[in-house]
Amino acid sequence: MRERLSLDRGWRFALGHAANAALDFDFARDRSLVKAGEARGAAGKDFDDAKWRQIDLPHDWAIELPLDPRGDKEVCDHGFVAIGPDHPEHSVGWYRRTFDIPKSDLGRRISVEFDGVFRDSIVWINGHRLGRHASGYTGFRFDLTDYLNYGGKNVLVLRVDASQWEGWWYEGAGIYRHVWLVKTDVLHVAPNGTFVTSKLRSGSAMVTIQTTVANDGDDDVKFTLESEIEGRHSKTNARIAPWASVELRQTIQVKNPRLWSCETPNLYAVKSSLSRKSARPVDRVETAFGIRTLRWDAKRGFFLNGKPVKIKGTCNHQHHAGVGTAMPDALHEWRLSKLKEMGSNAYRCSHYAVAPELLDLCDRMGILVMAETRRAGSEGEAIEQFEQMIRRDRNHASIVLWSIGNEEHSIQWAVAGERIGRAMVRRAHQLDPTRMVTAAMHDKGLDVGFANVVDVHGWNYMKVGDIEAFHKRRPNQPIVGSEESSLVTTRGIYADDKARGYVSAYDVRTPGWGMTAEKWWTYVVARPWIAGAFVWIGFDHRGEPIPYKWPCTGSHFGLMDSCGFPKDIYYYYKTWWTDEPVLHLFPHWNWAGSEGREIDVHCFTNCDEVELLVNDRSHGRKSVERNSHVAWKVIYEPGAIEAVGYRTGKRAESKRIETTSEPKRLHLFTDRDSIRADGEHVISIAVSALDERDRPVPTADHLVRFALDGPAQLIGVGNGDPSSHESDKAPMRRLFSGLAMAIVRAGRKAGTIRLTATSEGLEPAGVTISAKRAAVRPFVP
Ligand code: GAL
Repeated sequence: MRERLSLDRGWRFALGHAANAALDFDFARDRSLVKAGEARGAAGKDFDDAKWRQIDLPHDWAIELPLDPRGDKEVCDHGFVAIGPDHPEHSVGWYRRTFDIPKSDLGRRISVEFDGVFRDSIVWINGHRLGRHASGYTGFRFDLTDYLNYGGKNVLVLRVDASQWEGWWYEGAGIYRHVWLVKTDVLHVAPNGTFVTSKLRSGSAMVTIQTTVANDGDDDVKFTLESEIEGRHSKTNARIAPWASVELRQTIQVKNPRLWSCETPNLYAVKSSLSRKSARPVDRVETAFGIRTLRWDAKRGFFLNGKPVKIKGTCNHQHHAGVGTAMPDALHEWRLSKLKEMGSNAYRCSHYAVAPELLDLCDRMGILVMAETRRAGSEGEAIEQFEQMIRRDRNHASIVLWSIGNEEHSIQWAVAGERIGRAMVRRAHQLDPTRMVTAAMHDKGLDVGFANVVDVHGWNYMKVGDIEAFHKRRPNQPIVGSEESSLVTTRGIYADDKARGYVSAYDVRTPGWGMTAEKWWTYVVARPWIAGAFVWIGFDHRGEPIPYKWPCTGSHFGLMDSCGFPKDIYYYYKTWWTDEPVLHLFPHWNWAGSEGREIDVHCFTNCDEVELLVNDRSHGRKSVERNSHVAWKVIYEPGAIEAVGYRTGKRAESKRIETTSEPKRLHLFTDRDSIRADGEHVISIAVSALDERDRPVPTADHLVRFALDGPAQLIGVGNGDPSSHESDKAPMRRLFSGLAMAIVRAGRKAGTIRLTATSEGLEPAGVTISAKRAAVRPFVP
């Protein structure tokens, strides 16, 4: 029977060198290209790696590197991390993992699967070079069967070269997603070998299951494929030649299906099992899918199950404070839940194939996904990446659109680009006839290129080009705002500060191509023919420091900062994207030294009216315009501001912000009090400083030290400061605008975890988390 074992733990790691053979463990003298099994140096099987560092995956070595302020544009885009062509000493990483394969595995097929390695990796097993995989964003696998030492030790080696960029954001480095050892019978469902689609007709769904079965054995096999959905079966008997594969098609009817939607993300599973004639199953595979209909309409936008759904989306990168690109699954989940709480219903994977677990979560949480490939191209590596993404991801209920690329300036308006785009769209339709294809584009008013071949026009930034004219010219072309806004804000900062690299948190400042939140959302909501849009970006990330460069190393575009602390602008969206009562007042009221200065006070609320009180004196009651905000100019005096919201004339909500005194003690808080002791689950714990009346001090910037007790590990820290040069891997961090965060990962033992935070001159704080017994994924010891 199939086994899928985690190979995340127990690796050895060392930095090599991209320009010095001796410091690169003699990689240049490796002979595994010359003669089979003759790998030398660290690639070889007898190399002594005892002195290398012990690490577990996911792992991103770039997050620990120093910064280099001298870097060029690309280095700046990557957050000034000292990696890449100017830093060969930091750009190559070696990984080795030794494991046993029992004698009893002889006769099975065994492969290794990498979900994502950044980037250009070469893989060896037992001194044999298996191959090379260039993309840092797609997964890959190698069949190890012929090379293994059954009943003994085996050594898997990777050399990962992150010297070259694939994007213009922080990309990390290393084996940053999961690794699996997969063992099957010679007769098995091929990798990504099931494709499930459904057609809805008068209250019932006809589900079609295409299964590719492989026979990696010397005998002709008669077999039965049985597929089951909730007790309904389809059985097919077939025959397969040695070393061949066949594709079988089955249908199963699901009566009164529970449809998948954002509100009710119902999922079904196809359970496939393979057996040789009249024998017990030799392979079982489960494929989750959803039953729903998708339609993109040129006049009325996007329809899910026949109902219009405005896309309230965010674009996102795949890294987070404290961990870089080595994102635990639980952190993906936590981030998605923050976006959902804000009212977002859609996620654009900008600009590459994401971790499969992220898509599983979107399926389960009811989040619509625009899945994008990294490179546009119709030949070689580029089209292979695109195909790999579609084959791996096409069963996900959440995916509603494939994207062939983003802002491909050199080809998207060109004749050659049109040919390339057409080939990509054709390929997507061949592999997945159920979904539409888009490209994220800047408009140039030209009628050539990608615009002529995509199903849905992806419009990046409505300020660029003329979307109205385009719509008039092409009234039958569905349009989605594939990227929008690019508002820049720094959490808790209310004036631009070039020297420190901060921008004001009001909804005011965008680069030339962007629009404020209020402007774009008001515009899009009034036009049903625009299906909605994806805001750039859900979370601040490393790299792309715009508008200021060094000392700034991170982006300001996030609705949340890099730790996931909401910025004020988060509440603009929450106000107009949810039905929940929201009343968010800002800024803070700690402006010592600014007495007598005029301060802008803003409020995001979905109340009908709101009144502002300053030290209990009314500054007037204002009515709230839909999709807008309310503002006052107030002369600063310490004390309190208070917003009182009214619905249908009655007092409904209020928010009071007081001038605090000096910080007195630390405070630790988190949204959960337990963690699963499965060795992978993480919890994000925030720290703030409170004054003597327990009010959080919004300007506190104390250095906080963390100490952890119990069966867990502190895996990273952050504070959301886009100009911070502190290490994300140290057990300490300064508060930024009053907050910092620690990420704690559970061990495999249950027990009590205690995180303590201390800071000079402040009373310490502690929080207790209970690590509850939980199943550990099957793993390779
Ligand atoms: C877009 C681009 C994004 C990001 C953004 C910043 O043009 O697609 O990746 O760079 O600009 O505003």
